[in-house]
Amino acid sequence: MAHDLRWPQAPAIYQIYPRSFADSNGDGIGDLPGITSRLEHVAGLGVDAIWLSSIYASPWQDGGYDVSDHRAVHPTLGTMDDFDALVDRAHDLGLRVILDQVLNHTSCEHPWFLAALAGDEAMAGRYLFRDARPDGTQPNNWISQFGPPAWTWAHQRSQFYFHQFLACQPSLDLRHPEVKAAHREQMRFWRARGVDGFRFDAASSYLWDEALTDNPVAPDEIRKKNTGEIFNPFTFQHHLHDMLPDDAATYATTLREWAGEDAWLMGEMTEGVRSYELAMEFSTPGRLDAAYTTDLPANCAGPVAIADLLRRADPARIVGWLSSHDQPRHGSGDFAQAAFLAALMAVLPGPWLIYQGEEWGLPQPGLAKDEVTDPFDLLYWPDGPGREGARVPMPWNADDPEFGFTAGRPWLPMRWNRADLLAAVSVSGLAATYRDLIHLRRKQGWASGRVLISDHGDDWLTLAMQTGCGCLNAWFAWPGATLKPPDASDAVFAHGQRGDYQVVLRHDDTKRT
Ligand code: GLC
Ligand code: CA
Repeated sequence: MAHDLRWPQAPAIYQIYPRSFADSNGDGIGDLPGITSRLEHVAGLGVDAIWLSSIYASPWQDGGYDVSDHRAVHPTLGTMDDFDALVDRAHDLGLRVILDQVLNHTSCEHPWFLAALAGDEAMAGRYLFRDARPDGTQPNNWISQFGPPAWTWAHQRSQFYFHQFLACQPSLDLRHPEVKAAHREQMRFWRARGVDGFRFDAASSYLWDEALTDNPVAPDEIRKKNTGEIFNPFTFQHHLHDMLPDDAATYATTLREWAGEDAWLMGEMTEGVRSYELAMEFSTPGRLDAAYTTDLPANCAGPVAIADLLRRADPARIVGWLSSHDQPRHGSGDFAQAAFLAALMAVLPGPWLIYQGEEWGLPQPGLAKDEVTDPFDLLYWPDGPGREGARVPMPWNADDPEFGFTAGRPWLPMRWNRADLLAAVSVSGLAATYRDLIHLRRKQGWASGRVLISDHGDDWLTLAMQTGCGCLNAWFAWPGATLKPPDASDAVFAHGQRGDYQVVLRHDDTKRT
């Protein structure tokens, strides 16, 4: 079937975490046929695309981001035929498909790494293996992003290997010609199967200083900005040598060549110190289309955080988002707040990433330690980061014992509030607000708009924007704000009451242009 699925300038993208979306065969784990069966819901929201979190063969020690075969679908998720059917259905519904590219590392069960452990020197060269120092300690002081040392001993080789995340995720040498060739071919492989774009996992971590120079101690101001909780030893260092994001941004030109001109590409920035500046470097012409940082979710998109974004970056190239498979859900159970934040994300120029279930206002579920499988959560239990809660499966049906997710037993316990779910899907519930906002955003060209003026206090934000429909004035007032938004009677969109979360969006070409 012929489709005209050229990319809009700033797409609205719905993120699907495959294990937790919909289960078709009763094994309690979401899968590709399950996703296909629920795509109508996603298309009904009016979004432009879906991003599927890693679907690849993997021991699932890091939820699929430990890939053992980048060209194979995880057997628990389905088959290649299931994947083709998913892409066809998405395209029929007008949805473009984005896949993850986990280029930075492989699983320790990847055939390359297994061969390296077995003594294959050519394969070892695709990673970073180094001898111990004479006293048996690790080659340098680098620390992984999750906190433990970035070097793990491989007794099979009597050497350490480098990993920026878990020990089961050895980092690849992205400068190695055969690694590059494999990455290029795998991108072409997925493009040939109809994939329309890619999300580059951990893109700011690509490449390292080949001299293996020790990282210096982080001065206080750097330590506070480093990604991670302050109790994570990763924050103690200034990461000048274990990751070279400026070089990685240049590398993005190569990623563009491999993916093709017409692919839509976004990169994940987990570097906190120069997050927006790096996002800008990664998304200059000829590189990626956009990048995302953790600043907005870390600050729940407060007015100061938005002002910081507008000051430091071109918002057209920053992906706006609040929840993902890596962050506790931003839903607090308060629908007024959820609708307000959705309006804020919809109005901000640039792409918008919506995480599965946020259209129903799902809050972060509580889990007991013995229910959690995520090694990062368990490392600091119960103090964070809270990734597994965001991975609790989707509740499709408030009346069903397992919420319509599975006919079996869900892989994580589902204890959603049934009354809240019914409210969210009711005629004027939160899901309807998401649909309205996504529709308005597209129809009125907010996403490709330009911020002309912005002003803010601690609990309010105003924007004047040039959009496809003239000048849009936006007033956002957080609870108790001194700002009084204008009368909402001629608003394009309005929500909330004075003193609570209140937003008024109004076209007004005569004022504040
Ligand atoms: C990205 C993924 C995250 C994973 C990490 C290491 O941040 O989103 O889930 O743990 O990369 O691959
Ligand atoms: Ca299943």
